[in-house]
Amino acid sequence: MLFDTHAHLDDDRFDKDRDEVVNQCKLDGVELILNAGSNMETSVKAIALAKKYELIYAAVGVHPHDAAEMDEETAGVLAALAENKKVRAIGEIGLDYHYDFSPRDVQKKRFIEQVDLARQLGLPVIIHDREAHGDVIDIFKKIRIKEVGGVLHSFSGSAEMALECIKLGLYISISGPVTFNNARKTVEAVKQVPMEMLLIETDSPYLTPVPYRGKRNYPGYVRFVAEKIAEIKGLSYEEVARQTLENGKRLFGI
Ligand code: NI
Repeated sequence: MLFDTHAHLDDDRFDKDRDEVVNQCKLDGVELILNAGSNMETSVKAIALAKKYELIYAAVGVHPHDAAEMDEETAGVLAALAENKKVRAIGEIGLDYHYDFSPRDVQKKRFIEQVDLARQLGLPVIIHDREAHGDVIDIFKKIRIKEVGGVLHSFSGSAEMALECIKLGLYISISGPVTFNNARKTVEAVKQVPMEMLLIETDSPYLTPVPYRGKRNYPGYVRFVAEKIAEIKGLSYEEVARQTLENGKRLFGI
């Protein structure tokens, strides 16, 4: 009954054993997986996975790292890809000022463009925000994100920012780092976000939670995120799993 709302099973680290990994997910109680695209190639791969495996849904979009590779035709190609009925979001899109792989003005332009696309298509957005909290919030307000809806994936901001995002109608998705020793800020955010607005994810193959930190991540490990949230919120693991599944289904129309 778990919903891993953000994974990259298209990653080549799964090339050798993808079938087994998906099977293991089912054995571990994962009911749904949203596989996010990060550029044109991985967006196409995400759709192929969604076609092959019943429990996988897809998002298509261009990550800020690859924003510089977008041109005037990209949005049209994404729109065509989104016609597939298992595509349930535009993402992951956003701003990444940690790596700055694309110039910031280009990141902003392509981010806004893809939110506009989501608005036209009636799909929510999956937002990547790394060390760009101020600009992300500014853009949210400018583009009336509330009308589009979406989720801040692998949330790394403060409790204050989380509450501001919720006011804008966005969900907050928690990933493996909440299990790390230095997660005080994320723990505080989890405490303050109402259960109805929380999602869980792995961001596989990255961000592996404790106790498997350092190994390849996979959607079955989303249970460690759910367990940690249960501990923080004083709820049962089952309640967190059930509520986050319901939230994810509501957001992605599943
Ligand atoms: Ni990701």
